[in-house]
Amino acid sequence: MPALDVRAARRDTPGCEQRVHLNNAGASLMPRPVLDAVHEHLDLEARIGGYEAAGGARERLDAVYASAARLIGCEPGEIALLENATRAFNGVLYALPWQRGDRLVTGRAEYCSNFMSYLHLEQREGVEITVVPDDPEGQIDVAALEDTLDERVKLIALSHVPTSGGLVNPAARVGAAARAAAVPFLLDACQSVGQMPIDVDEIGCDFLGATGRKYLRGPRGTGFLYAAHEASEALHPTALDVGGAEWTADDAYVLKPGARRFETWEASTALQLGLGRAIDYALERGLEDIWRQVGELAGELRATLAELPGVTLHDRGATRCGIVTFTVAGTPADAVRERLAAGGVNVYVSRVEDTRLDLAQRGLDSIVRASVHYFNTREEIARACELIAEIPRVAA
Ligand SMILES: Cc1ncc(COP(=O)(O)O)c(C=O)c1O
Repeated sequence: MPALDVRAARRDTPGCEQRVHLNNAGASLMPRPVLDAVHEHLDLEARIGGYEAAGGARERLDAVYASAARLIGCEPGEIALLENATRAFNGVLYALPWQRGDRLVTGRAEYCSNFMSYLHLEQREGVEITVVPDDPEGQIDVAALEDTLDERVKLIALSHVPTSGGLVNPAARVGAAARAAAVPFLLDACQSVGQMPIDVDEIGCDFLGATGRKYLRGPRGTGFLYAAHEASEALHPTALDVGGAEWTADDAYVLKPGARRFETWEASTALQLGLGRAIDYALERGLEDIWRQVGELAGELRATLAELPGVTLHDRGATRCGIVTFTVAGTPADAVRERLAAGGVNVYVSRVEDTRLDLAQRGLDSIVRASVHYFNTREEIARACELIAEIPRVAA
């Protein structure tokens, strides 16, 4: 049996019978074991009550922390289960003790929500944002980043893989620079976790945000935060909840140790169990094998698209991932997406407002984003490319 049994993974995935799903960077298709984990717990809640069902699921919930920790190479106490990657990212970003004149260093391909939060901190706290330029390959210029680090820099915050392109930023080199300068490093790994092996020690980040629904193939409304023990102990969340703190006396409370201080008490146990199953499912398949398969399929898609007249590829970076972006001359990205949808192929349209600094500087308003996962096939990629080839071209 091959290391990664694509056929078995497809049999596990009801959505594979319905659509050619090339929108894994939006929300991937959940495999049956994930659906079962969610459904079983919801059924139990309906039958015996939500609190009673959660009581019986305690050990399985604890195992979700252990699975997330195994996935990224940390300890379970360094994981907080949250509703999405933005909650994870902002939980840390806003908890830092910012002072007027502090600097936040980031890259050009930042996700809209992240960058708007930086702007919010700039306007509210007087934080200075420094955007490091790209190197000639289109990834963050690590030498320029190193040059900008000084004692006023309180955080490096960076998207590992942006929402709108195949770029994989050199996170480990950024981590090395951050460690050398003793600056905390917050990595947005929303698009990379589940797609490629991630080890927080190798990367050298102090904090990392991830989502469940994308390359991890988990349910929507799930995500997690990694906060290194020593880094999180110094942080006070901006808002408290009995999930993250304990009321110990009339005039006192204590924060939960480690990453748990960022959690809220109320959460969907069913979805969290689904997230845990999704992480285990990825681990069982092997992140190295998943990454290899994603790379081969994305390479095939790029190579085929490159042969089509009028098609321009837009991915940048020395290392490229499963996100493939392109435009078709004379056909708006939305029209390309609609044509593909009519042929049973799901893709997404990335817009300038998603990663404004990056797309605007390249003069791109909207681009088609096709994102492959390991369960896609060469036939599906050929089908998508056939449909794109059939789009009538406007004569030059
Ligand atoms: C790079 C990147 N960061 C963050 C997010 C936000 O993730 P979430 O919707 O889980 O908060 C996205 C979502 O598309 C993303 O692509």
